[in-house]
Amino acid sequence: MSSGFDRLARWYRWMELLSAGETLQRCRTEYLDEVRSARRVLVVGEGNGRFLCELVRANPGASVLCLDESGEMLRRARQRLHRRGLSETRVRFVQEDVRRWEPSGRDVDLVVTHFILDCFPIDQLESVVGRISKTVGEGAQWLLADFQAPASGWRRVRARLFLRIMYAFFRIATRLPAMDLVDPDPVLEDHGFRLCSRRVSEWGLLRSDLWQREGP
Ligand SMILES: C[S@@+](CC[C@H](N)C(=O)[O-])C[C@H]1O[C@@H](n2cnc3c(N)ncnc32)[C@H](O)[C@@H]1O
Repeated sequence: MSSGFDRLARWYRWMELLSAGETLQRCRTEYLDEVRSARRVLVVGEGNGRFLCELVRANPGASVLCLDESGEMLRRARQRLHRRGLSETRVRFVQEDVRRWEPSGRDVDLVVTHFILDCFPIDQLESVVGRISKTVGEGAQWLLADFQAPASGWRRVRARLFLRIMYAFFRIATRLPAMDLVDPDPVLEDHGFRLCSRRVSEWGLLRSDLWQREGP
């Protein structure tokens, strides 16, 4: 099973370093302190393991299911854990397309989707959030770092230009199914999640969110 991201995996760290320095990593780890009590974590579209290493370091007691359709990204994530001297005994790596994934159980207390929900058009996004939601119960937390476009002004123009170029690149490089960014907020709300905290950075281009599933 090959993924469009396999080809990019080798260059992904360098691309990030050159285009954004440490900014994206700050977005990924913004709310790490708030999720230290999580015991069963589902990380979807982890990529090359930069967030995973920080998660395992901050929360060594957690069991982590790390799901990504790219075997090459998963290989790099595992390698990164070893290089950092971190144990993978509590991490299960699963190579699978989340659009076809059939979750079992409802015991996940933390979901992480960093820079992956932007890969899907609206119909796929709804289905993916629906699938993931089946694994979590009341009170579960959801960490989400991603791009966004501010509502108006020059910041919006700047963000729209950046996003247009980024989507054109990723569509060619990875056969990305999405043509443009879809706001995941209403989809998360439809599945019972409430935004607890959001940090916006880079003139409105980036967001780090902490969501929580409400009770009935
Ligand atoms: C843009 S990268 C983001 C990687 C990382 N989470 C980050 O913060 O940079 C998207 C990641 O999601 C994975 N991915 C994309 N579509 C997927 C799908 N349908 N199912 C599972 N993983 C997917 C890719 O292989 C890649 O690792």
